[in-house]
Amino acid sequence: TVYDCSLIQLPQNHSEKGRITSVNNNIEAPFDIERVYYLYDVPGGEARGGHAHLELQQLIVAASGSFDLIVDDGNIKRTFHLNRPYNAVYMPSGLWRELDNFSSGSICLVLASTLYDEADYLRNYQEFKQYKTK
Ligand code: TYD
Repeated sequence: TVYDCSLIQLPQNHSEKGRITSVNNNIEAPFDIERVYYLYDVPGGEARGGHAHLELQQLIVAASGSFDLIVDDGNIKRTFHLNRPYNAVYMPSGLWRELDNFSSGSICLVLASTLYDEADYLRNYQEFKQYKTK
């Protein structure tokens, strides 16, 4: 369910010269990271996502700027407003997600448990609902 998502506060190393946040395999990330990708140059008003994953787990971070992550288990929706580079949302598999309200210049950093595989996507909401009820 959406309650299997969690907001994780990542460690920060800070000094007067700036801050560093690191994400380590099986420490802050509750899975082995196999892929890193980032979403940027999202035009104002645009939404992304609109799919679920069968296996993929992710950590989602607003590395710059802010956006909303709306998670849906087929019954309940939960919205996370991400606006700090040291906060991450852990997304287990099997949840529908949308991303919207991107601020100008924002970067959505995703740490993912598997390589890209189109066969892992459920892109049709009705099919997702059927998958959740069977
Ligand atoms: P998608 O995951 O659907 O984007 P979003 O959820 O942000 O709207 O990916 C869009 C396209 O980008 C997809 O059809 C193929 C390509 N893509 C890759 O080639 N590799 C990747 O790791 C990702 C995430 C996407």
